[in-house]
Amino acid sequence: MTREIVWNEEYSVGVNILDRQHQTIINVLNKLFIIYDTTTEAKDLVTILNELIDYANLHFTTEETLLEKYHYRDLIVQRNEHSIYQQKINKFIDRIANEEHQVMSEATGFLVDWWMGHIQGSDKDYTRFLNNNGVF
Ligand SMILES: [Fe+2]
Repeated sequence: MTREIVWNEEYSVGVNILDRQHQTIINVLNKLFIIYDTTTEAKDLVTILNELIDYANLHFTTEETLLEKYHYRDLIVQRNEHSIYQQKINKFIDRIANEEHQVMSEATGFLVDWWMGHIQGSDKDYTRFLNNNGVF
């Protein structure tokens, strides 16, 4: 199963609150891997996925509000990525009740790829922009 993800400076997007939120998301992902390895109950998986959804929603709002405030040019890219992510996760949740572990292995693979790709990709793209606006 997926190994533990350890946050390091390379993942920093240069803004404290967003880095802290990304760290919390990584913590929830690590918790999800452990639950995946130890439970046979679909409801346990759905519970942790819902926790991730709630926290991710809070994070997306923080990020988008900040980027909107300073009129970030690629805000639409962020919004699109966030919204595609939310649709995918909702689909995974719908399927878990029937197919459980098979879906979860697909879902955890997607979650790791998405978060690590997003944090180090389009999130890092706004670092200089926000720092130049005095946001750290
Ligand atoms: Fe983002």
